[in-house]
Amino acid sequence: MPQSLHGRIRIPGDKSISHRGIMLGSIARGMTELFGFLDGADCRSSIACFRQLGVDIIQDGDHIRILGGGLHGLQQPKEILNVGNSGTTARLMSGILAGQSFPSSLTGDASIQRRPMTRIIDPLHAMGARIRSRRDDGCAPLDIEPSALRGIDYLSPLASAQVKSSVLLAGLYAQGKTSVTEPAKSRDHSERMLRAFGADLIEDGLTVSISPNPDLTGQKIHVPGDISSAAYWIAAASIIPGSEIIIENVNINPTRDGILHIARAMGADIEEINPHTVSQEPVADLFVRSAELHGTRVDGPIIPRLIDEIPVIALMAACAEGETTIADAHELRVKESDRIESMVKNLSAMGVSVTGTDDGMVICGGASLRGADIVTCHDHRIAMTFAVASLLADGPVHLDDPDCVSVSYPGFYRSLQLLLGQ
Ligand code: S3P
Repeated sequence: MPQSLHGRIRIPGDKSISHRGIMLGSIARGMTELFGFLDGADCRSSIACFRQLGVDIIQDGDHIRILGGGLHGLQQPKEILNVGNSGTTARLMSGILAGQSFPSSLTGDASIQRRPMTRIIDPLHAMGARIRSRRDDGCAPLDIEPSALRGIDYLSPLASAQVKSSVLLAGLYAQGKTSVTEPAKSRDHSERMLRAFGADLIEDGLTVSISPNPDLTGQKIHVPGDISSAAYWIAAASIIPGSEIIIENVNINPTRDGILHIARAMGADIEEINPHTVSQEPVADLFVRSAELHGTRVDGPIIPRLIDEIPVIALMAACAEGETTIADAHELRVKESDRIESMVKNLSAMGVSVTGTDDGMVICGGASLRGADIVTCHDHRIAMTFAVASLLADGPVHLDDPDCVSVSYPGFYRSLQLLLGQ
């Protein structure tokens, strides 16, 4: 019998909100304080980059103080900016850099240098930015030259918060209004935080518009817990019989809560307790008890609301009764790894019958999981998914890079031990 999970856990701060806090604090005037900041490798990359841009950022664990010099207070970096493994840093910061009066270059690790940047280069070009991929392959390193930006109405082919945010941030420096329309709603943390800092921003259905040159003023932001990190405990407590846990302080923003809807559609037992608002974001504690899960269909406009949780949803599907189909998730192919391939390969190694498709996968549930050597591709979400899978396996599960979890959840294994009562 697998060991059940019990107790209360507080998950680390939301990664998307932590990045945005660093960025907006850096281009606002005055002091910004972040409480509950995610002290993971990705968000540290954002801190390092904005320090290179001359911003005074003091970190004490999950408490951050940023002394911003206003929209035009950044300084030319002496060296190439290194975003590490962080796509959010690369894409959002490019929007800010495109509007500066100095040249800059950015790059990142091997994974970042393979991830598509044309999705931000194209709209930024349309705004008049001079930004190019150094190797001409649409990927980082990117070189950005100063130029005057003009506002555009951008019809984005992707439901991507990174694209939307990059264009809106460039819009702060443009002449005239900038708007972005998406095919489906992606996470809206930029919109909420920009408004709190004083930006003039209007949302109308799938369109967000921003006016240039606002007076952004430093804020105190309390970062809620990351639902993408909570997802591993939601899944683990749901699939391991006899489990009963409370996950505290989880951001349940409706553009991020797809996992709750899909888990419940699969039969999961999740209660939201003590709902309240923290720094413009809805938050609740989640009470999760194990349940008999059944297969479902995951597709359509819910996909951007759970895009980072699909690996662990696929694991829940493998443990559920019946078949689950995941579709419309082509974006998984261009995350930190090709997550369709990573999931199909590793679930198959554990004895699950799963077929990859162009934009998702079909999973036959109900198999018993066997031990396997897991190839994480240094992808934090693949590592955490299979660490959870190992709890149900009938043999040893070996992860080739367990430490990559520190990208988004440095205390992951400690939390796991705590929930197992170890
Ligand atoms: C993020 C947006 C999502 C998500 C990523 C973080 C953000 O990417 O997968 O982990 O903070 O804006 P896309 O916007 O590219 O879908």
